[in-house]
Amino acid sequence: LAFSTSSQVQAPTNVKNITVFGSGLMGAGIVQVAAQNGFQVTMVDLNEAALKRGQDIIGSSLKRVAKKAHPEDAAKQKELIEKTMANVKTSTDSEAASKDADLIIEAIVENLETKQKLFSLLDKAAPEHALFCSNTSSLPIGDIAKATKRGDRFGGLHFFNPVPQMKLVEVIRTEQTSQDSFDSLLDVCNRMKKTPVSCKDTPGFIVNRLLVPYMMESLRIVERGEASPKDIDVAMKLGAGFPMGPFELADFVGLDTMKFIVDGWRKEGKIDENLVAPVKLLDDLVAEGNFGRKSGKGFYEYNK
Ligand code: 3HC
Repeated sequence: LAFSTSSQVQAPTNVKNITVFGSGLMGAGIVQVAAQNGFQVTMVDLNEAALKRGQDIIGSSLKRVAKKAHPEDAAKQKELIEKTMANVKTSTDSEAASKDADLIIEAIVENLETKQKLFSLLDKAAPEHALFCSNTSSLPIGDIAKATKRGDRFGGLHFFNPVPQMKLVEVIRTEQTSQDSFDSLLDVCNRMKKTPVSCKDTPGFIVNRLLVPYMMESLRIVERGEASPKDIDVAMKLGAGFPMGPFELADFVGLDTMKFIVDGWRKEGKIDENLVAPVKLLDDLVAEGNFGRKSGKGFYEYNK
């Protein structure tokens, strides 16, 4: 029996089957985009209720996409939706759902141990050639990869919310990620009609590394009483061309998520501490359960 070390295993050059773990906003969005572009996708979550929520997210987003693609043609809209959904399977059985995967994308809860536990299980269940990726926005990819014996076939694929609309994917390579794994990931992004950019395994990669400190400084402007959230939002939309101001964006991303990212980075100690210094305004809103859009209130109020 030939003994194969992990670096001898070739990453797939032509990914066909993708298994996505997590059916929340990000997971469902990734499933949708993959299915729309002809991949065979399995969406996995802990129970049927979660999978149903994921399918609903996909359903309403697909309706939008179909209407945009065929504004006057209801039959073509229906065809696009049905064709996409025919590429989507669901499962609550992690191991069975991984056995034919060429690529696994994880978009579950942002908890290192939970992710490691999942990947350690999948390392045994998935084919040896399968590529593993995390969509994490706050944890080092290398730390998650440590739970497996396939560091060379492990990377980050970081999508943006709303996934079907945002064109970018950050492709993260760790010190271990092999060149052919990286090439496969770029190819998958292109086939999903996304634009990939590459980044080393660093806190926040490119987008969040710039976006989060900018959002934190906006909060500090308010705390110092220099300008209101509304005026800052108007300023950044009309003065810098951003589609959303920092407070609209914070409510959109989730204030709890933002706090989680900043607290994590501060603990990790790899970023200038002034950039991630706590802001009481954010901590108070989160403590009160005001998480932004998803809870109905953040800096602004929303109809749930
Ligand atoms: N599914 C499919 N299409 C969608 C969609 C969805 N869920 N949500 C929006 N769209 C499409 C619409 O169909 C529309 O398409 P069109 O312009 O071609 O007709 C387009 O997006 C614009 O939508 P709307 O007209 O309804 O609304 P807006 O013009 O206000 O745009 C927005 C909404 C796309 C969210 C825009 O405000 C935006 O780009 N905001 C910034 C979003 C952003 O920065 N995201 C990144 C957050 S950071 C992140 O995700 C990282 C994480 O790790 C924290």
